[in-house]
Amino acid sequence: MAERVIPLVDERSRVLRPAVPATASPATGELFDTRARPLRDLRISVTDRCNFRCGYCMPKEVFDKHHRYLPHSDLLSFEEITRLARLFMAHGVHKIRLTGGEPLLRKDLEKLVAQLAELRTTEGRLPDLTLTTNGSLLARKARALKDAGLQRVTVSLDSLDDAIFRRMNDVDFPVAEVLAGIEAAQAVGLKHIKVNMVVKRGTNDHEIPRMARHFRGSGVTLRFIEFMDVGATNGWRMDQVLPSAEVVARLQSELPLVPLSPNAVGETAQRWGWAGADGRHDPALGEIGVISSVTRAFCGDCNRARLSMEGRLYLCLFATQGWDLRSLLRGDASDAQISAAIAAIWQGRSDRYSELRASLPPDQGEQRGRRIEMSYIGG
Ligand code: GTP
Ligand code: 5AD
Ligand code: SF4
Ligand code: SF4
Repeated sequence: MAERVIPLVDERSRVLRPAVPATASPATGELFDTRARPLRDLRISVTDRCNFRCGYCMPKEVFDKHHRYLPHSDLLSFEEITRLARLFMAHGVHKIRLTGGEPLLRKDLEKLVAQLAELRTTEGRLPDLTLTTNGSLLARKARALKDAGLQRVTVSLDSLDDAIFRRMNDVDFPVAEVLAGIEAAQAVGLKHIKVNMVVKRGTNDHEIPRMARHFRGSGVTLRFIEFMDVGATNGWRMDQVLPSAEVVARLQSELPLVPLSPNAVGETAQRWGWAGADGRHDPALGEIGVISSVTRAFCGDCNRARLSMEGRLYLCLFATQGWDLRSLLRGDASDAQISAAIAAIWQGRSDRYSELRASLPPDQGEQRGRRIEMSYIGG
């Protein structure tokens, strides 16, 4: 069936001006929103560009040669990003994920990694520093990233079938090069490598068992992601979502899996371990994850904030507006003032889109068309 693609209404212009509180109390290392959720995870998008055109994220018909990307002067510099990351970490952030677009398209990204690797959590530990990439440039860049202090990496890969993969990235990019990128990441010693597969029913769901078998026992954790209604251009339909429960059931019918307990509060994925001959989890075989933001929302513990490449802070993947922190950075605000502004924004947060999705009308009218694109705030 032909894909339905919806034209892009440029929502990047919807911006909120952060208020600087009159009295700036210092960061305490703990910040809670209106639902008592702490701030732990900062996802930093470093570019709005990507060399792929995955239909669920940057459909070609929308992100064509007429699409206006941001000029370089609008992007936060590495120094600006690092300054904000330091202030966020003082509020309790301990995980930093670089995203895009495709983050490896940002020139000299390893220099940013090196700057971020200098930061410390409030307990004096290194941040958990990671990156989400489509893998196309990873074979070339893995060594420099690792040397700069990157700890781990997550690679997006939707199929092992070359023809399907080329169709899904829509730029005819061969799967072998992404697999080479994953191998390079392993070879240079990046740890806890994950592969994210967005599952679209009717497009790549028949690839689930093959993907699972390929990564079983490889040291790489494969995660199946439900196709989400994020952004406003990907023509999302519920009938294209394959519920995670079905992914697990399909795999279980071939190879036994056992449920594993979460590694951390607020984790996106539910973990399942491959069972050995004794029916118990065999760590040598590894695990898979399922990310069920459509059928089993995980907003209750959501501790994630997102910073766009031009310095806007988004409190939810499905947000319609972001807070313009760049105006503070490029104005004369002090660290203490920016820190207090961030605190006030997080403390006012009440977002829980995925939980509310079920009760929203199917097309959600205005709201749906106004969501920011995932390529702008990153996964
Ligand atoms: P790890 O620390 O490696 O476990 O990473 P993660 O699962 O926190 O992050 P990752 O970026 O790999 O997330 C995987 C996918 O889950 C994303 O690409 C999104 O599709 C989805 N996802 C991540 N965070 C959120 C979120 O806050 N809300 C929703 N609805 N989906 C999310
Ligand atoms: N649904 C689910 N995940 C998505 N991603 C992008 N768009 C979507 C969507 N519509 C995620 C994928 C990809 C990462 C960069 O963003 O996990 O790997
Ligand atoms: Fe690019 Fe990743 Fe979006 Fe695909 S999902 S278009 S690789 S940013
Ligand atoms: Fe967090 Fe929003 Fe995702 Fe819910 S929908 S988990 S609040 S980012």
